[in-house]
Order: sequence, then structure tokens, then C-alpha cells
Amino acid sequence: MGLDAFSLDGRVAVVTGGSRGIGEEIAVKMAESGAAVAPVARSADALEETAARIEDAGGTAHPRALDVTDIVAVEAMFDDVKSSLGPVDILVNNAGTNPFFGNPRELDIETWNKILNVNVTGAFHCAREFGRRVDVREGTGSIVNIASVGSVVALPSQAPYTTSKHALAGLTKSLAIDWAPAIRVNALAPGYVKTDFTKGVRENDQIRADLLESIPQDRFASPAEIATSAVYLSSDAAKYVTGEIHVADGGIAAQ
Ligand SMILES: NC(=O)c1ccc[n+]([C@@H]2O[C@H](COP(=O)([O-])OP(=O)(O)OC[C@H]3O[C@@H](n4cnc5c(N)ncnc54)[C@H](OP(=O)(O)O)[C@@H]3O)[C@@H](O)[C@H]2O)c1
Repeated sequence: MGLDAFSLDGRVAVVTGGSRGIGEEIAVKMAESGAAVAPVARSADALEETAARIEDAGGTAHPRALDVTDIVAVEAMFDDVKSSLGPVDILVNNAGTNPFFGNPRELDIETWNKILNVNVTGAFHCAREFGRRVDVREGTGSIVNIASVGSVVALPSQAPYTTSKHALAGLTKSLAIDWAPAIRVNALAPGYVKTDFTKGVRENDQIRADLLESIPQDRFASPAEIATSAVYLSSDAAKYVTGEIHVADGGIAAQ
């Protein structure tokens, strides 16, 4: 196997949460690696910007606006992407939310349900529909679930998010063993990345200082530094890798 194993030439990828942040960067890097990409999120306008970046890089984009918690819309999206781009080889479950930062005593059940619904149930909907349609003869089926360092250690004041990301790690391992050898299923677990998602904590001087103190590399990641791992995990270079929680966190979980 040569270095061309890192290429995604001829593959078709669906990237949820592909309208900004980590998902946008994964969509663009997968296109640069040769895949035709369907970025998916709720905001159609933001998806058009991702699609323009993909096309500017010489790639093929097929944006689709939907909410990952809408089962009917997810099913229709997979059928539509297949008829427009061909059978889907790669699913990146990246859409995620974290509207709660605080003491679990103050957490209302609606917020709890929302976080679990998007981060876990939404990822499962997409994985199930992908699993039902993937062409197993091709041997190119890959799911990358964008988990978190909060999948392997608890993040302070983020009980529902930590719970959801631990669950996503469990789903990753379960699907990896149930769907082997047809589909490889891995999780990519970033530490703190410079996106809108972490803007609030990065702009609070005290929280920012505490976070940097906890990161051996003493800095936040760029989305591109995470996206390259997603390309690797989806490529033939990772052909014997499944059920892995691939941590890219500047050393947080190693302590
Ligand atoms: N940033 C970090 O430090 C960090 C660290 C570890 C893990 N992560 C994980 O990485 C993933 C991406 O995070 P990010 O930092 O890039 O966040 P972000 O900038 O807030 O982007 C989130 C993406 O998910 C989409 N999305 C949210 N809810 C959705 C829904 N119900 N249906 C469809 N799309 C939805 C958003 O688009 P719309 O709003 O248009 O729907 C957007 O494209 C998340 O799963 C997050 O938990 C992030």
C-alpha cells in the first residue's frame, strides 16, 4: 500500500454540520482529497458558502439543508445524494450542540433532551440510513463520528454534553463490531477547537486561562488540524482501523 491510500478519489461523502467550523473544514478537505461531498446542516445559506469553497477548490458539492433529528428528511437526503453523486461511501456525523454550561442542578430536562437528541439520536439516524444503503461490495464504507475529548474524560460544568459524547463513543464501538467488515466506524475526539462552538469560553478571560492550563500544548486547535484526521480515518490508509476513539486534543486526555 502506497501513500495514494490517503486519497478519497471517487468516494462520495456526507458531512453533517458541514456549514461551518469543524464540519465545513472536513467537507473542504475531503473534497480536496478527491471525494464528492454533500455538506448538510439547517442553514441553507451557510451551506452555499461551504459548497462555493469546495467548487473553488475544483471539487463537487451537493449541499442539503436539513435537521439531523428529522428522520424523514435524513432518509430523503441519503436517497437524493445517491441519485445526484452516486452511492455514499463516507458519513461524517459532525452536527452537534452544547447549549448548557453550568451546575447540573440547574439543568432543565428540555435542554438535556435537546443535547442528547442532536448529538446521539441524530447521529444514529444518519448512521442507520447510511448503513441501510451502503454498497458493502465496494469495501469503502466508513463512518466518522465527531465525538470529543469529553467522550473519554468528563468536561467540567458540561454534564449533558459529556454524557452525549460518551454515548457517541459507545455507539461508535457498537456499530464497529456489528457492521464489520462491511463498514468501518471510528470516532474522532477533538479537544478545544477555534469555532463558534467555543467562542463563549475562549472569550471569557478566566475560563480561557483555566482551559489553556489544562491543555499540554497550551493552545486551541484550528478546524483544519481536526479535519485532516477525519480524512485519514475515512481513507484506505486506515483500512484496519475500526472502533477506535481517535483523540486529537493537544494532550488533555493523556494527563
Ligand atoms: N469546537 C470544539 O472545541 C469541539 C471540541 C470537541 C468536539 N466538537 C464537536 O465537533 C462538532 C462540530 O463542532 P463545531 O465546533 O464545528 O461547532 P459549530 O461551529 O457550532 O458547528 C456546528 C455545526 O452543526 C450544525 N448543526 C447543529 N445542529 C444541527 C442539527 N440539529 N441538524 C443539522 N445540523 C446541525 C450547524 O449548522 P446549522 O446551525 O446551520 O444547523 C453547524 O454546521 C460537534 O459535534 C461538536 O460537539 C467540537
